[in-house]
Amino acid sequence: MRVALIGANGHGRWHRRQIAELEAAGVVELAALVDVRPIEPGPEAAPHFTDHRAMLREAAPDVVVICTPPYTHRQIATDALRAGADVLLEKPPVLSRAEHRALSEVLRETGRACQVGFQALGSAALHELRRSISYGVVGTVTGVATVAAWQRDDAYYRRSPWAGKRTVDGRPALDGALANPLAHAWMQCLAIMDGDPPVGVELERYRCRDIEVDDTACLRITLASGRPVVVAVTLCGEEFIPGEVVVHGTAGRAVLEYPTDRLLLPGDDGYREIPGRVNLLENLVQHRADGTPLIAPLARTEPFTAVLDVLNSAPDPAFLGGDLVVEEGEGPARKVTIKGVNSALRQAAEKLALLSELPVPWAVGPHSVRLTATPENTLQTTEEPVR
Ligand SMILES: NC(=O)c1ccc[n+]([C@@H]2O[C@H](COP(=O)([O-])OP(=O)(O)OC[C@H]3O[C@@H](n4cnc5c(N)ncnc54)[C@H](O)[C@@H]3O)[C@@H](O)[C@H]2O)c1
Repeated sequence: MRVALIGANGHGRWHRRQIAELEAAGVVELAALVDVRPIEPGPEAAPHFTDHRAMLREAAPDVVVICTPPYTHRQIATDALRAGADVLLEKPPVLSRAEHRALSEVLRETGRACQVGFQALGSAALHELRRSISYGVVGTVTGVATVAAWQRDDAYYRRSPWAGKRTVDGRPALDGALANPLAHAWMQCLAIMDGDPPVGVELERYRCRDIEVDDTACLRITLASGRPVVVAVTLCGEEFIPGEVVVHGTAGRAVLEYPTDRLLLPGDDGYREIPGRVNLLENLVQHRADGTPLIAPLARTEPFTAVLDVLNSAPDPAFLGGDLVVEEGEGPARKVTIKGVNSALRQAAEKLALLSELPVPWAVGPHSVRLTATPENTLQTTEEPVR
């Protein structure tokens, strides 16, 4: 199985290590690396390209891993699929439902496969949580929430030309906390509620820097069943919360710490480790060999992308500064922390509430959008609250 990687720097370095491990195990062979910038040196002997179309013609890989900025994904994935390759496409796969529909159409046309890089979907801990829910350990699920508090310094927003941008060259870039680093958190929630599609979105977004996107956000997705998924996240956090998914039920609550694969079920004394993740590239290779189902096929990410449409249409994030924040360090090392943010986010996750429904003085009312179920999946903004 000959694998090429497009976007070889940045997070592409992680894929280079993954490919090297699978190459050492005799599962794949690295066919080519592509990047528009000089590729950071590595031990790989594969040819380097600056143009992905030239690479597709000359190297003819079986599988292409795409790790470029999200606004380039649809075009590069389309080119790779039409060249006859299967694709592992980094998250967020695309940035609107129009792009999702266009790429799904190419998949239908070509009969090829597209796996999306939501690697936490392959975790044994998520599998165990879903199994436990199906056995009724939390009773009837009444809602799901996720909370995460990370810290990113100013250097993070200088890492790439699209960092902190809402658009690049007129196209959505959406490099906010919700759409990029903390996307895994709520994709896990949507996966737990698989089969219950979003019908409404209430969104509150905040920023503590001179950026165009959110570094802090609270999002409530209402599902067709009426149950909520609440997402409460920040990159300006106090103590580190890696990422917790809280499943609320009539008989108790379960918590999955998705980055570290730890699970707490009702009645447990403490977290239990449930290690093990199915590697998404290996799963794609298996899928090609014997039809093993993909863990994160593009179709599974449709509800996620529907919510991104709301981010595209939402007002700019509200600025938080002055006495609300604490600044530490200087230059690229400067960090900003929102005072009391962790407790506010935790309350949102516990109460399945928006920040504006809690006693949080800096919270602003939500941007509220209904997702209509027309055949075209068009969005309709409502004047009335979603709930
Ligand atoms: N799954 C995860 O946990 C995870 C983690 C980090 C990033 N990501 C995703 O990986 C993707 C890349 O993110 P990043 O942080 O590495 O971005 P980046 O901007 O740091 O790196 C992207 C690389 O792609 C190259 N590139 C840009 N346009 C190209 C083109 N047309 N052809 C070839 N190369 C091109 C750039 O030169 C750069 O080297 C994004 O979708 C991001 O969300 C996923």
